[in-house]
Amino acid sequence: MDSLLQQIESLKQEIGSYQARNAEELEQFRIKYLGAKGLVKSLMGEMKNVSADRKKEFGQVLNEFKQFTESRYEELRNLSMNGHGASEGKAPSNQPDLSLPGDPIPIGSHHPISLMRDRMIAIFQRLGFAVAEGPEIEDDWHNFTALNLPEHHPARDMQDTFYISTDPAWLLRTHTSNIQIREMQKGKLPLRIICPGRVYRNETVSARSHCFFHQIEGLYVDENVSFADLKQTLYFFVKEMYGNDVKIRFRPSYFPFTEPSAEMDISCQLCNGEGCNVCKHTGWVEILGCGMVHPKVLENCGIDPGKYTGYAWGMGIERPALLKYGINDIRLFSENDIRFLKQFTSAI
Ligand code: DAH
Repeated sequence: MDSLLQQIESLKQEIGSYQARNAEELEQFRIKYLGAKGLVKSLMGEMKNVSADRKKEFGQVLNEFKQFTESRYEELRNLSMNGHGASEGKAPSNQPDLSLPGDPIPIGSHHPISLMRDRMIAIFQRLGFAVAEGPEIEDDWHNFTALNLPEHHPARDMQDTFYISTDPAWLLRTHTSNIQIREMQKGKLPLRIICPGRVYRNETVSARSHCFFHQIEGLYVDENVSFADLKQTLYFFVKEMYGNDVKIRFRPSYFPFTEPSAEMDISCQLCNGEGCNVCKHTGWVEILGCGMVHPKVLENCGIDPGKYTGYAWGMGIERPALLKYGINDIRLFSENDIRFLKQFTSAI
């Protein structure tokens, strides 16, 4: 009996200092001491060998030992659940360590054309322009005829058009000017809109041109709108986009849908006007066409040109994006090479 008491004493020490570093070790503890064939059970079995006069004493010691072992087991279990089970303060391996940083989730990036488009829209929105959109598959009237480009007009050849092969009355729009027409037809004046969108032309794909690209059209129709208003709007845009040091010039030009018409150049942002490949050594880069909406175009949309006047412009998004990001090949925008695309992150 005394040797049993000694054994219990040393087991208590062993149990008191037992450390469970993980669930497996905790389970080992349970099996070894509290399991069906565990030490507590087998000591209970010794009861029958103890002499009658000491049974009571031994029973008490055994009970106390059992409680001690059970509460130590609870203690170890709580420790491991709270993530402090390991002797060196590490989390037990079966429990998630909630203090670890999470796995990064790749969230992608904005396309540089979208970034540029949104920058442009944000600037014009501050001037009170609303965004309007229109269809990419368009009929001849909205893309050409209404814009004062009747059939056989030579200017139609300037825009190499993709016609829908099964029905050539339909085409892929060659510019965003179709949206001007659709918005003016709605008959709500005054009208102050910008129209971003994708356009298509049957051009050979090269570093400088593509068979599809993007434009933003602008249109303001009201009473007493003048060319001076147009210039102020475009000046504001260019200064906001490129800063105060940029130089601007207007050149007279021709578009069937505007009269008078002009093209606007800005000093080359890549060489600061000193001459480089992008500006073809002129120091200037053309960024848009513009003018006063032709009276015939207003008439085509049911607007009285005696009462209303309007200005319009159309500019590409690709070229300003090339200038802004220092890219020299327009094809990169549509090749979907993630290594290229993921470099453009910042918002407006
Ligand atoms: N639609 C013309 C083009 O794609 C651009 C343009 C020029 C639009 C003058 C206009 C404008 O609204 O007034 O080349």
